[in-house]
Formats: sequence, structure tokens, C-alpha cells
Amino acid sequence: MEVLSTKTELSDWLEFRKGAPRTLVPTMGALHRGHTSLFDLAGEQGGDVVATIFVNPTQFGPNEDFDDYPRQLEADLARCETHGVSAVFTPPPAEMYEPEPSISIHESKLSTRLCGTSRPGHFDGVCTVVAKLFNLTRPDAAVFGEKDFQQLAVLRRLTRDLNFPIRIIPGPTVRESDGLAMSSRNAFLNEEERGQAPVIQRALSRVAGTIAGGEIVSPDDALQSISEEIESESLSKIDYVKIVDSETLEPLSSFDRAEPRLLAAVFFGKTRLIDNVGLPALNG
Ligand code: PAF
Repeated sequence: MEVLSTKTELSDWLEFRKGAPRTLVPTMGALHRGHTSLFDLAGEQGGDVVATIFVNPTQFGPNEDFDDYPRQLEADLARCETHGVSAVFTPPPAEMYEPEPSISIHESKLSTRLCGTSRPGHFDGVCTVVAKLFNLTRPDAAVFGEKDFQQLAVLRRLTRDLNFPIRIIPGPTVRESDGLAMSSRNAFLNEEERGQAPVIQRALSRVAGTIAGGEIVSPDDALQSISEEIESESLSKIDYVKIVDSETLEPLSSFDRAEPRLLAAVFFGKTRLIDNVGLPALNG
């Protein structure tokens, strides 16, 4: 496995691997089983797997956890190696951003909802860095986890609207044994918060089941039921709970036709966790 930290090293390696198909897995490091499942999925596509490890400053707000974001490069590289990654691109910030960049990418529809409301500018940072990584690594395909469902939808738009000839592959969410979605931010939870956090997945899945079984017929009732269950845990503070169309991310007023996605963002202490579950189209 090659470890590359400059654009020149990366382009030399790409030249050396010329002709081999390539799947990209962008990450911010602090790798866990959620990430390694994405490497495995990338490996199943055949050809080279390129992972990137870069804690992207432009997607963090001024009061967010950029400085505290876990960094553990040695352990991350070992995980990459075990999961068949061909090359890891791990640039310092100065390699990715010019001193005063004057261009960034702004997605103006899907990014205005959900996490975009609580994290202004976040998806501009994500779109900008992913477009740069696409340009630098020129992959045939790229894998992104469904845990960040809005990010996946926004990056599909980025790929479509900017004509990147790249296939976007969604990776299913990987969970702890109690249902909590794997996230690098789980490390910030104290014992009590960690004990309560699986309520997010429990509430979303329970209500998805009742909707699929025809017991809850209105999105408003479903949202109330999810919120009540999450709020029953004393340390939770809901940022949002929404039921949206999977593709447009527009809120649903009924379960007719659209493929509903149930999403939540919930604080436990200072840690903000997100999760989501899907439902098949109900009346389509
Ligand atoms: O999901 C992430 O880890 C990041 O948002 C990504 C896609 C690597 C861009 O920095």
C-alpha cells in the first residue's frame, strides 16, 4: 500500500497505475468498521482502491469540532492496509487549499435543509473538497456511506451537475451491536450518553416498521412518535427529526408515492449524532 501526501506523489502513482480502474473512498480518518466496510465495497468493484484521509477544515463551522476531531494516522493506515486499500492520499491542508482560495462549490437546493440549516456552509465545504479529490484522483467510482444520507444526496447532485464521469456507490450504515450507527464522533460520548444514544436508531426503526405496516399513516404522527421516544432519554436534545423524499430531501406531507427516508440529528451533551432509515415506496 502506498502512502502519498503530496499532489505530485499522487499523480506519479496514478501515472504508474495508468489503465487500472479505480474506486475512491474519501474519509476524514478516525477509521472504524463503517469506513472499512466502504473499503471492502470499493474492493468488490475490482481495480485499485484509493482512500483519502483529510480532515477538511472548510466543512467545519467556527464553533464546531475541527480542532478536536480525532486524528490517528498510524492506526488508520493499518486499517487501510488490512482492507486491501491500494493507496492512501493523506495531504496536509496546504496541499489541498491555496492560501486565499476564491472559488468554492455551492449546492443550492438539497443543502438548505436538515444538517444544512444547523451547519451553514458545511455542504459547500464538502462539495468543494470532494470536487478537488475527484479532480486529483480521477476515479471511475466513489463510495460514500448512507449514514451521511444528506451528504450522499448532495454529492450525487455534485457529480450529476458538474458532469463528473464517476459512479457513486452508496455504502450501507454499519452499527454497533445495540444499533448505534458507527461514527468517529461516538468517541466523544461519555458513558451515560453512550448508553442513551441508541435511542435514535430504535425510534427511527420502530416508526419505520409501523409506517410499513400501515399503522401510522401521516408523517406528522410519525414525527411526533419518533420525537417522543428520543426525548424520553434525559440527555438527548433533538436538532431535527424529518421525513423526506429520498431523492429531493423535501419534507413529505403524505406517504403517497415518494420513497420516504426518516432522518434525525440529536445532541447528547456537546456531541451531535445523525442517523437515518429508509422505507420502500409505499403507494408507488
Ligand atoms: O464523510 C466524510 O468523512 C467527509 O464529509 C468527506 C466526504 C470525506 C469530505 O471531507
